[in-house]
Amino acid sequence: MKIADRLSTVEEYYFSKKLREVRGLMAEGRPVINMGIGSPDMAPSQEVLNAVTEAIAHDGAHQYQSYQGLPELREAFTQFYKSRFNVTINSQTEVLPLMGSKEGIMHISMAFLNKGDEALIPNPGYPTYTSVTKLVEAVPRYYDLKETNGWFPNIEALEEQDLSKVKIMWTSYPHMPTGATATVAQLEELVAFAKRNQILLVNDNPYSFVLNENPISILGIDGAKDVALELNSLSKTFNMAGWRVGMVLGNAEHIDAILKVKSNMDSGMFYGIQKGAIAALNSDDAWFQELSRVYSKRRELIYELADKLNCEYDRNAVGMFVWAKLPNGISSAEKFIDEVLYDKNIFITPGTIFGSNGEGYIRFSLCVKADKIKEAIERF
Ligand SMILES: Cc1ncc(COP(=O)(O)O)c(C=O)c1O
Repeated sequence: MKIADRLSTVEEYYFSKKLREVRGLMAEGRPVINMGIGSPDMAPSQEVLNAVTEAIAHDGAHQYQSYQGLPELREAFTQFYKSRFNVTINSQTEVLPLMGSKEGIMHISMAFLNKGDEALIPNPGYPTYTSVTKLVEAVPRYYDLKETNGWFPNIEALEEQDLSKVKIMWTSYPHMPTGATATVAQLEELVAFAKRNQILLVNDNPYSFVLNENPISILGIDGAKDVALELNSLSKTFNMAGWRVGMVLGNAEHIDAILKVKSNMDSGMFYGIQKGAIAALNSDDAWFQELSRVYSKRRELIYELADKLNCEYDRNAVGMFVWAKLPNGISSAEKFIDEVLYDKNIFITPGTIFGSNGEGYIRFSLCVKADKIKEAIERF
């Protein structure tokens, strides 16, 4: 059977391929320490575990659920946005639960991009923006993020170009993979740019609560809802990556368009997961403090490892990764990480999988236990 032409535009996801190789090495008996992917290794809170366990016995728990999620889940999302970002969201019309923010990238693209439309995509950035854009037969158009610019786009330079075909701009602040943050003034600049050019601005924001003292939502910017959507996720904030819970927030019209796509693709989220998500969203400050305590200890150790490799990094960066610049003289990040993988049995992500501007950089995940990071340091 001949597969659809659109599949020739994308490749299997990097981690899907590379982790198969890593698993192969482990099956050969190699003691590989995986510092690649940002998949939290710790458990959700006890309240979350209790909530999902209890929910299983509820009447109707195993039936199809509402396409828009339980009203109390939408309410929990909006309270979370109010208490953590001071952003007001209408729980009836301005938020939709997602099975992880990753699927939201597809739904938004299906809802807003026609064949041939262009999407502005950060280089470096999350690879899914590109693959989804290609899958819906739209055209990725990369904008440069450079260390010298604080990993923020040069809006003036962008505006000198013909933007008439651009329909969506993907941003992700705090930025993955670099951990750069954007100030309120910079987010205002992005919103103003989107308004001037009639572009839907989508901020993908799953890292706000990892080692970040000042969480900001794009929807907190005056007038942002006119042109902006935000994706958020419980994956990293609440150690629930495998649960697949996220959300998209924005004005009612935009959310309605996304619901039109999504309600034709799935049939609601498992009741128990929604109940667990509500418990997570209601977590108190102690949860966030404990998360920071563990990750900051690990990050200090990763800094030590990066020092051993003569890499440079920014101590002001936030999020679940350390983005490090390889020493001068190492020209290929992919060659470097393969050498480390095969010589030292340590898997680190090469910056190039996030785009050409990731050349010369590597990304360490903090989802590795402290004793394993110490072992990695020992191997050098
Ligand atoms: C920038 C970015 N967006 C979205 C996602 C997907 O997260 P989720 O688990 O919510 O689908 C990730 C996951 O690594 C990410 O790094």
